[in-house]
Amino acid sequence: MVSIKSEREIALMRDAGKILAEVHARLGEYVRPGISTYDVNAFGDKLIRKYHCVPNFLHYNGYPASICVSVNDEVVHGIPHRNHILKEGDIISLDAGLIYKGYHSDAARTHAVGKISPEAQKLMDVTKESFFRGIKMAKAGNHLNDICKTIDGYVTSFGYGVVRDLVGHGIGTKLHEDPQIPNFTMRRRGTRLRKGMTLAIEPMVNMGGWEVEWLEDDWTVVTADGSLSAHYENTILITDGEPEILTLL
Ligand code: MF3
Ligand code: CO
Repeated sequence: MVSIKSEREIALMRDAGKILAEVHARLGEYVRPGISTYDVNAFGDKLIRKYHCVPNFLHYNGYPASICVSVNDEVVHGIPHRNHILKEGDIISLDAGLIYKGYHSDAARTHAVGKISPEAQKLMDVTKESFFRGIKMAKAGNHLNDICKTIDGYVTSFGYGVVRDLVGHGIGTKLHEDPQIPNFTMRRRGTRLRKGMTLAIEPMVNMGGWEVEWLEDDWTVVTADGSLSAHYENTILITDGEPEILTLL
């Protein structure tokens, strides 16, 4: 069932989103060559707690960290490790979420580590832009597939692969609520969007094919062909007009 948030709930979702936006801004400044993915998680975890929030990814279905750190061909759900040192030219996707007064926020950014190739930069730019194209369709009265097909069409026009095994989702008092939100065109129009829905929209884009695999750790999702992958996500609120992006400053 897709939940509609009350004004009181929306106010709390806004607060949860704003705090997460701040956390992401600080994480972005922190990323540099020479630090480990473990350091990134430790920094993010500490920040979330400094705001008196709870990291919602930690222990979620057994996930062992607060920030998902996915480097290069890792798509999502990378596990931070002390011996995974970031190097110049890497791209790093950081997925973070938190709970504030019972309400969840969820957002992801992909950052360059030092100087990166123009090809990697383009992948990151297209992934981010696909989110903004997609949410232009995110208004009351439209249907879910209006978002999905817009993201899909934009991404695939560059020859990139849209990940199909993982999707966006509703969000609120739980991290994952209905509906599921694919980044690829569905064969149905999907849920009708209504004012007061809060959604996490999160295109995951591979430079090569859309196919992904899971590593032995049962979490880390990697591209099947070893190509680079980028991720961009925000929690948004559906209104009668433009959607409100809750996890941007
Ligand atoms: N942002 C991701 C999602 O939307 C991360 C959650 S997976 C976790 O599902 F296990 F790490 F929490
Ligand atoms: Co999410």
